[in-house]
Amino acid sequence: MNADDLKKQAAARALELVRPGMRLGLGTGSTAKHFVDLLGAKVAAGLSVICVATSEATQAQALSLGIPMSTLDETPELDLTVDGADEVDPQLRLIKGGGAALLREKIVAAASARMIVIADDGKLVQKLGRFPLPIEVVPFGLEATRRAVAQAVEAAGAAGELVLRRRPDGAILVTDGGHHILDAHLGAIERPELLAQALNVVPGVVEHGLFIGLAAGAILAGEGGLTILGG
Ligand code: A5P
Repeated sequence: MNADDLKKQAAARALELVRPGMRLGLGTGSTAKHFVDLLGAKVAAGLSVICVATSEATQAQALSLGIPMSTLDETPELDLTVDGADEVDPQLRLIKGGGAALLREKIVAAASARMIVIADDGKLVQKLGRFPLPIEVVPFGLEATRRAVAQAVEAAGAAGELVLRRRPDGAILVTDGGHHILDAHLGAIERPELLAQALNVVPGVVEHGLFIGLAAGAILAGEGGLTILGG
């Protein structure tokens, strides 16, 4: 089975959590895309839900499938968000933002009574940090912010290169919110909570990809079947 089949399996299991009338947050990325596809088929068959997207890409996909969409202004409290992740540790701490949607993903997750992560089991790690940590920053003062981020990272006991993310054509990536992303190549992050706190107070940092205390559960698909963490 290839990785995409595994992602689809995890998405299908998450779909079983959806009940009629639910207010749903829709994640971003290749795994969440499967969930939205499957949800779209259910909606076409008569399921009634109202959804909020975590990115312009997911919004466009959901609308193309006829899924009723709302905003957090109209629907500020959600029942369930289903989203992918770049890394998941056994305590359900996550790295997210490989798809550059971390800011809206975190806002939507925080507005949800329950967030469930869907992924192939290759995303499960004992320690976060092999995947570069995305840090979303405002364009103004980029170099000053980069230096302040480096100091915050060091103060939290971590170290590594900060790389400004670019698009495949070489242009600097701009997020849905009009910001840039610094990818922090840190290796194992020994104290994720400390690092999150340190990054939270750097002026110019809009958000970072450490999701701590947000995921209630994870559905991880592997060759041997599904692994369920949390609930
Ligand atoms: C988007 O910004 C990310 O947080 C994604 O949820 C994450 O990168 C997982 O994406 P895949 O499902 O494509 O691996």
